[in-house]
Amino acid sequence: MKNIVIFASGSGSNAEKIISYFLHSSTAKVVLVLSNNEKAGVLAKAEAHNVPTLVFTKEQLNSGFVLRHLQAFNPHLIVLAGFLQKFPGDIIAAYPHKVINIHPALLPKYGGKGMYGAHVHRAVHENGDKESGITIHYVNDNYDEGNVIFQKAVSIEECLSPDEVALKVLELEHEHFPKVIEELINGKID
Ligand code: GAR
Repeated sequence: MKNIVIFASGSGSNAEKIISYFLHSSTAKVVLVLSNNEKAGVLAKAEAHNVPTLVFTKEQLNSGFVLRHLQAFNPHLIVLAGFLQKFPGDIIAAYPHKVINIHPALLPKYGGKGMYGAHVHRAVHENGDKESGITIHYVNDNYDEGNVIFQKAVSIEECLSPDEVALKVLELEHEHFPKVIEELINGKID
């Protein structure tokens, strides 16, 4: 059984999908959810599934405390699912090729510092793009620049607002993120 740990800062709808997807799997399971935000909805969602949680400060993230805590859970894959802080280099170095992120746009468009969540969908909508989508990628020391693992596009021609774009993209995330994680763990993609 391979251990998945999830970092999330917000509502945690992706985290919940991933937890549920692996509930009855014999391959992997979510063993820990971590958040920098004590008010994040993801914490209640994890607890509802009896997944242990950890809330940490920025200082704890960057001082080795979070890395030490993680090591006790022996993660095979570290998943950022709406995690909005810069991910520390020491954890990336300790788990090479094992830290992945989901981004709600077709990178390299609409990536980088400050480009997250609603900001992304607003920019896509304002530019009048006909499609958006999701990118799942490895995490390196620069925001949204690690190697791409998976992308999927969706037409947003009918979307009248950034919120409608967001909804379409979130649906794609929920559909594909758990499966891509499973394929990575099974070595079907890399
Ligand atoms: C997701 O759409 C994810 O792609 C995005 O935050 C949302 C979290 O939703 N991540 C980023 O923008 C990272 N740059 P959730 O909390 O409902 O899973």
